[in-house]
Amino acid sequence: MVKDEKRLRIGVLGCGPIAQAAHFESCTKAKNAELFAICDVADDLRERMAATFAPTKSFSDYRAMLDDPDVDAVIIATSDTFHVEASRMALDAGKHVLCEKPLGVAVEEVEGLRAAVESSGKVLQVGHMKRFDPGIETAKAFVDTEMGEKLGYKGWYCDNTHRYAMTDAVQPLIVTSANARKPAVNPKADLKRYYMLAHGCHMLDTARHLGGPIEAVEAHLTQRFGAYCWFVTAYFADGTVGQLDLTVAVRMDWHEGFQIYGENGSVLGKIYNPWFYKSSDVDIFRESDGGWHRTLGADGHFYRRQVEAFARVILDGADMVGADIDEGLASVRAMVAVARSAETGGRLVRLADVTGAV
Ligand SMILES: NC(=O)c1ccc[n+]([C@@H]2O[C@H](COP(=O)([O-])OP(=O)(O)OC[C@H]3O[C@@H](n4cnc5c(N)ncnc54)[C@H](O)[C@@H]3O)[C@@H](O)[C@H]2O)c1
Repeated sequence: MVKDEKRLRIGVLGCGPIAQAAHFESCTKAKNAELFAICDVADDLRERMAATFAPTKSFSDYRAMLDDPDVDAVIIATSDTFHVEASRMALDAGKHVLCEKPLGVAVEEVEGLRAAVESSGKVLQVGHMKRFDPGIETAKAFVDTEMGEKLGYKGWYCDNTHRYAMTDAVQPLIVTSANARKPAVNPKADLKRYYMLAHGCHMLDTARHLGGPIEAVEAHLTQRFGAYCWFVTAYFADGTVGQLDLTVAVRMDWHEGFQIYGENGSVLGKIYNPWFYKSSDVDIFRESDGGWHRTLGADGHFYRRQVEAFARVILDGADMVGADIDEGLASVRAMVAVARSAETGGRLVRLADVTGAV
């Protein structure tokens, strides 16, 4: 594969599952970027990843990676609670940041990070990689340029009980280490919170990406047989009322998608388990010609396409398609709002009013 001459030199913080399954390969395959450095406190894990992916440099100390003048940008691939601190350190060191989702776990810490992004003048993109799904790209283009006024938005994200059998079949064997740095409290100790952070943020970013800003929500949570089902009424800024469904885990196949009804047409989207790297099936109906249209989207490597788009913003001054700091913050506010509404039996919660953690 031929790489561009001008390439973003990326250092990846964290050699955990997401780095192994997505970011190392993405940086290696991206035309306009390279896997310049990797970093992990776990020596055994880092050395094995260095042997497999052959970065130019390898660091046990994040500070040392940030001090390297040849590192242009970092990908933050650590546990959620470390995102804001690691992003802030990178910005202070003059590095651009692609931070895994969710950008943070509480409103205030992300508000603080926004000030750091503004004063740094550097690019910060949040890893909402579904925006780089070619099917979702066609939906976004239709909504923005042809659909006219929106009437309604439905979005659903339902992780399924069989997902590990499916992902184990297609992902590389994930290497773990007893020496990995983990948060003081296991994120999975509170599943309600974990599911909102891990999955809710995807559903809410897709809804905001396609439906525009959300102003308020009313949410109900049902918990049965170990499964969690949030049904959310979302009030979009343009007056559209949305229905969102976050369910973990459904007893069937992975079930994710959206439906948007508009003045000049409609869009129906079926999104696949991301690890299949299969573009969403997005059917667009145009009222003007009475016909359906679907793009194949042959290149469904959302994670690599996300890195390439990030590099284009930095190297070529391209517009940011990924979620920026404001959108990362809006996702965190939306998650907090859904959580607070569900705790209070479906009370209307405005995103602008929420404080605290998910
Ligand atoms: N976009 C997606 O589809 C997707 C999918 C899965 C996970 N994620 C996100 O990816 C993130 C990481 O998930 P994971 O399961 O790989 O995490 P993990 O905690 O298992 O692994 C993180 C690694 O980073 C290392 N690390 C942490 N802080 C460090 C520091 N300061 N210096 C050096 N090394 C450090 C740890 O030792 C560990 O090996 C999470 O935020 C998660 O939400 C995103």
